[in-house]
Amino acid sequence: MKRLFGNISGLKAGQIQKLESFYRRRTPVWELISHALLRDICAVSKEIRRQIGVLINRKGQITHVIVGDYSKIIIPDIGEYRNAPGRLRGLRCIHTHLDDEVLSEDDLTDLSLLSLDLMAAATMEEEGGPRRIHVGHILPKDSGSQSFQFLRPLRPDQMDIGFIEFITALEDEFSLSAGALETDSETERAILVGILDISREHGEESLKELRSLADSCGIHVVGTYLQRKRSDGSLPLGLGQFQNLSVLALQKAATMAVFDRELNPAQIRFITDRLELKVIDRTQLILDIFAQRAQSREGKLQVELAQLKYLLPRLITKNTAMSRLTGGIGGRGPGETKLEINRRRARERIGQLEQALVQVRKHRNLMRSKRTKFGIPVVSIVGYTNTGKSTLLNSLTHSRLLAESRLFATLDPSSRRFRFPGGAEAIFTDTVGFIRDLPRDLMVAFRATLEELEHASLLIHVIDISHPNAAEQAESVESILKELNLDRIPFIKVLNKQDLIDQESIAVLRKRHQGIPVSALDRSTLSDLIHDVEGMIIKAGKTC
Ligand code: GTP
Repeated sequence: MKRLFGNISGLKAGQIQKLESFYRRRTPVWELISHALLRDICAVSKEIRRQIGVLINRKGQITHVIVGDYSKIIIPDIGEYRNAPGRLRGLRCIHTHLDDEVLSEDDLTDLSLLSLDLMAAATMEEEGGPRRIHVGHILPKDSGSQSFQFLRPLRPDQMDIGFIEFITALEDEFSLSAGALETDSETERAILVGILDISREHGEESLKELRSLADSCGIHVVGTYLQRKRSDGSLPLGLGQFQNLSVLALQKAATMAVFDRELNPAQIRFITDRLELKVIDRTQLILDIFAQRAQSREGKLQVELAQLKYLLPRLITKNTAMSRLTGGIGGRGPGETKLEINRRRARERIGQLEQALVQVRKHRNLMRSKRTKFGIPVVSIVGYTNTGKSTLLNSLTHSRLLAESRLFATLDPSSRRFRFPGGAEAIFTDTVGFIRDLPRDLMVAFRATLEELEHASLLIHVIDISHPNAAEQAESVESILKELNLDRIPFIKVLNKQDLIDQESIAVLRKRHQGIPVSALDRSTLSDLIHDVEGMIIKAGKTC
C-alpha cells in the first residue's frame, strides 16, 4: 500500500483507511478526475476540515494522496517523475479548497515550478459535495505578462474534458512554440537571466555581452529574462520571479539558466532546488570558454586549476544539484568524471596542478630571459575581448593568427617579430582578452600569461570604438592593468574598427580617448600607429 503524504496527525483510523483507498481508484483517461472519486475526496476533506489533494498520472492512476491543512497542501518531492525540457511532468493535481473560490498564488506556484499538467481546485457545497472545479494550466507561448490560462469553472458532471487529447495538444503547442527541433539534443538551450540593479540600459548591455559569451561557448540562447532585483533577501530573484522564469524555461524548452552575475554556493543550491534546470553563472561561462580554448599545456593547467578552485566550494552534497551543477556545459569543462570526485581528490588535484604550473613557468621564465638578453623590446597588445587584438597583430606582422568574432578567441599569448621601417626591431605579443569583472580565480590563474606584460616596453591598448560600451570596456582594461601594477608601462591607445563608424564620430572619439584611429583589417591605416610605436620604442631604448 502506498503511503499518504502531508499532515495526517490526529486523523482517525477509518479516515486514514478511506484516504489510502484512493490509491486504488482509477480515472478514465478522458476525464479530469472520476466524478465518484472527486465526490469522495470532497466528503473526507469537509469532514476533516483539511485540504486533500491527489496527483494523477496520464494513465489515470493516483500517484500521491496528500493531506494539507485548512488553507493549503504541500506537494511532496516528485523529482522521480522527471520532465524532459519543454514537456510537462505528466502529473496533474486536483485538490479541495475549503473556502477559496479560485486557484491561489500557491497553486500557481506549484503549477509552474513543478511543470504540472494542470492544477485544479474543487470548491464544495455546505454538505460536502463538490460544487465547482477551477482548472488552470501553463500557457504554451510566452505572451509577456500572462503565464497561465484558466478553463471556465466546471460542474462536477463535466469531468469528461477529453483530458488525454487536451494534454497532447497542449504539449504539441509547447514544442512548436519552443522550436525545440531547431537544436540537437546535445546543445544546451539556455535562458539568460539578468538582474537590473544600475539601469535598464546597463542591464541590457550586460545581457548582450552574456549572450556573446554564451554564443562563444556554443550554447543556444532561447530566451532572456531581465528583472529588477528585489531589495530584500540574499537571493537574486523573488519567488514570483522564479515562477515566471520556470514557466519561460518550459515554454522555451530550456535546459539551462545562465545568471549574469556570480552566484555563491548557497544561491546555486537554492536555485537548482527550485528550477529543474542546470544553473550556471557568468564566471562559470567564462571558465568554460577558457577551458575550450586553452591550447598550450600551461593554458590548460591554468584553466583546470581555476575551474577546480571555483567549483570546490560549490561541490554540494545534494546529489541532484551536484550533478546538475557539475555537468559542465554540453558535457565539456573539466569533465563530469573529474568533477564528481570528492573534495579531497579535488584538493589533491589542485596541489598537483599548482606544482606543474611552477615547472612550466620556470621554463617560460628561462625562455624570456634568453629573449631579453638579446635586447629586443617587447610590445604587448592588450584590450577588451573581441576588440581586434589578433587582427591587429596579424596585419602588422603579416601573419595568420586565429581572429574570430568570438570572445576570447586568443587565450595563449602569441609573439611575432616585427621590423620597423627605420630598421628597429620589436616583438609584438597578443594577450588574452580582458573582460569586466574577470573572475578572481581566473585573474590569478592567468597572471602568468599576463606576467609577459611586465617585461613589455610598451603596451598597445586596443579599443573597439564601434562598440556602444567602448568607454566602459576601456575603463575595465585600465583598472585590470592597474590591479596588475602594469599602469607604469608606457602605452598607446588604438581606436580600432574605425571603418564601422562615420568620420565625425571618429573625430569626437579620437579627442575623447586620445588614441590613434585604425582599422586593423586594413594595413594601410596603420602607418601612424607604426610610426608612433617606433618613436616610443626608440625613446624607451634610450632611457634604458
Ligand atoms: P579575443 O581573442 O576575444 O580577445 O579577440 P581579439 O581582440 O583578438 O579580436 P579578433 O582579432 O579576434 O577580432 C574580433 C572580430 O573583430 C573579428 O571578427 C575581426 O574580423 C573583427 N575586426 C577586427 N578588427 C576589425 C576592424 O578594424 N574592422 C572591422 N569591421 N572588424 C574588425
